Amino acid sequence: MNMTIKEKILSQLLSAKGEPISGQKLADELSISRTMIWKHLKALELEGYVIEAVKKKGYILLSIPDIVSKERITSYLETAQLGHNILYYPVCDSTQNIAAEKAREGAPHGTVVITEEQTAGRGRLERVWDSSANNGIWMSVIIRPEISPHMAPQFTLVSAVAITKAMEDLTGSAPEIKWPNDLLMNGKKVTGILTELQADMDRVQSIIIGIGVNVNQELESFEQSIQSIATSLKIETGNDINRAALVAKILYYLEKYTNMYVENGFEPIKLLWESYSCTIGKRIRAILLRETLEGTAIGISNDGVLQLRLDDGEIRGIYSADIHL
Ligand code: BTN
Repeated sequence: MNMTIKEKILSQLLSAKGEPISGQKLADELSISRTMIWKHLKALELEGYVIEAVKKKGYILLSIPDIVSKERITSYLETAQLGHNILYYPVCDSTQNIAAEKAREGAPHGTVVITEEQTAGRGRLERVWDSSANNGIWMSVIIRPEISPHMAPQFTLVSAVAITKAMEDLTGSAPEIKWPNDLLMNGKKVTGILTELQADMDRVQSIIIGIGVNVNQELESFEQSIQSIATSLKIETGNDINRAALVAKILYYLEKYTNMYVENGFEPIKLLWESYSCTIGKRIRAILLRETLEGTAIGISNDGVLQLRLDDGEIRGIYSADIHL
């Protein structure tokens, strides 16, 4: 992966783990002048990194800002393609809107649009998505898999599995997946996923996966109206979570499961999805556009469609609905 000079300097400071690195060593390794090194260090300081210059010894990274900037995410990234083009906005209306525009302009596969705060974050069914400053992950990932449009809806489920795995890896606690796109902890929503498609009749141009993760909010940070149904990783685990590291982990698993789906079909993803699901085997109410159905969720089909057994024994495939457990 191509790192900028600033990213390379940051990566060296991070790997020194609090020990000083001399300006000369940085300059030699990166083949630039010490003045240029100094300029990049000043730029990092402007972003909130605290760097101390110790006489005759060099530079020490004292603290890193809690932001989800390109440099921070890149320092944790382990992917071949996803996240190699990161567009970071301190604040924006909705990363989903920006990503849609960038995708139309030709942004490459794996482009990530990420922000600290959304002023018009949106969820499924035209709902508002509460996206307050500096405590969540509000990002949209543009992927361009070579698949036909009918395979696109499964990406909501692929993403749900990827985010679940990333959370489990990083916090030791896995959320449960409520079909199709909610991740819950103790019955409350910790993550929402909004998948949008740009396609021709026979070919996907891009899929935009909008991911909203409640990470470091306290209960009071949520709007009063959602305090009984929303939660954050911090509330559930008691720990502050490194958002940039979680973003990188999500991208890692999103890449892994996207490739798995494109190469091997939905079956392996389906098994993973079912193992984390809190919907299957439960009695549910599904609110569809024109009717409300009640019954037992018995599984998902190979194309990600929820199978609902009604009380009269009829099995109905649910493509899109609001599910109440
Ligand atoms: C839902 O549960 O209804 C989906 C919520 C999706 C929220 C994310 S946050 C990043 C991206 N930008 C948006 O405006 N929405 C998605």
